[in-house]
Amino acid sequence: MDLQRLRGFNDLFGSSSRLLTIIENHARELMERYSIGEIRIPLLERIELYQRSTGETSDIVEKQMYAFEDKDERQSTVVLRPEGTPGVVRAYITAGFDRTQPEQRFYYSGPMFRRERPQKGRYRQFFQFGVEIFGREDAACDAELLILIDDFVKQRLIDATMEINSIGCKECRPAFRAALIAWGKSHWDKLCDDCHNRIERNPLRLLDCKIDAKLAETAPSSLDYLCEACRAHFGVVQELAAAAGVTFVVNPRMVRGLDYYTRTAFEVRARGLGSQDTIVAGGRYDGLVEVLGGASIPGIGFAIGLDRVALAIEGNPRALQALGSRLDLPREAATRQIHRAPVAAFVVLGEAAARESVNLARVVRAAGLNVEMLSPYRSIKSQLSQANSMGARFAVIVGDREIEAKAARLRDLRRHEEVEAGFASLVPMIEARLTK
Ligand code: HAM
Repeated sequence: MDLQRLRGFNDLFGSSSRLLTIIENHARELMERYSIGEIRIPLLERIELYQRSTGETSDIVEKQMYAFEDKDERQSTVVLRPEGTPGVVRAYITAGFDRTQPEQRFYYSGPMFRRERPQKGRYRQFFQFGVEIFGREDAACDAELLILIDDFVKQRLIDATMEINSIGCKECRPAFRAALIAWGKSHWDKLCDDCHNRIERNPLRLLDCKIDAKLAETAPSSLDYLCEACRAHFGVVQELAAAAGVTFVVNPRMVRGLDYYTRTAFEVRARGLGSQDTIVAGGRYDGLVEVLGGASIPGIGFAIGLDRVALAIEGNPRALQALGSRLDLPREAATRQIHRAPVAAFVVLGEAAARESVNLARVVRAAGLNVEMLSPYRSIKSQLSQANSMGARFAVIVGDREIEAKAARLRDLRRHEEVEAGFASLVPMIEARLTK
């Protein structure tokens, strides 16, 4: 039997997993401040949902979905979600919000699945933290999201650049499409097979051509084709974001790989991540609710790639240091990144001591401190060396003598001091030393 991990699917242990949790928790805290509520959506949806939203000509739908027949669902084909937006829009329509309370603000967090070629920063199962806002077509809403993203990136000390663009609406997009098709045909020989196949169906993707990035710089710019309303909208987005101190560059050749976008589109790229350096991406999707059978309601959102944010932090000593104490890496972080270092490790000498220690440890934990109990069947020497190597600050030593005296030995492993700590005063004694 082959029990190898699947390619592009990761096992995350210790500090790697903890780093993701910290980033996710930080994003959740931001959501509170921006008044955005959580939504949990299914991992499986019908294939039609993605075909109609993400788009038949997107890489995701063309070649990256994990799709299979679901026998229970009248032989329909279901897909492991490759992104969150379509599921959130479907949930919004299913709940009837488009008719009853169109203004909604949601966030979600969880795994997404795409059968891509795995490499650093690109996995087949990866974690997104996404936001979707419904019922707001004003540019102030776009700017608010750019400010939110800027807050997230700057507070994590990530060195990154934000690029924004406007790709127009259903009024002005046709002229831009026509110009791109004409440009593509005049450079036919230099385009890749994907471009040849998609030129009529999705000419915006020509700007992402993998063969010749330089050539794309000669392509028509979306900004030259914006209608008056789109131009004004994009102007206000930039004005408000700049007034709030967000730094961004306008990249008129940035289009997104998914089909539903209209008007504002944006990507944030982190320095030093190599080719998979987009850590946040999103944009407006004013027609999507209607395309999926709902009322005509505007929408806008983005997703943070949590795995890539973790890579950006790991590669940046300043950012990592800022998280250091919260990451609680054991002293030998490089070799044993399994657990968060405990504040106190109980060194337990025999079975009577084990009975006493389970209660004592419970009291210390109730005070909010992180405790690990070591095995009573090991020698004191081996337990102390274990306490040291896991990075515990204190060893609480309990044996027969300590039980009789109703006092443990509290050893400060950093300062190399040992004191007697009556069982009743163990917590205050640990706390007093922690703040020293
Ligand atoms: P996306 O650009 O496909 O957009 O993905 C958003 C982010 O997810 C990327 O910028 C990247 O950080 C991360 N990501 C994507 N694929 C992978 C992968 N294979 N491995 C690791 N990370 C990855 C969306 O998914 C849209 N739903 C975003 C959105 C929300 N637009 C509007 N609302």
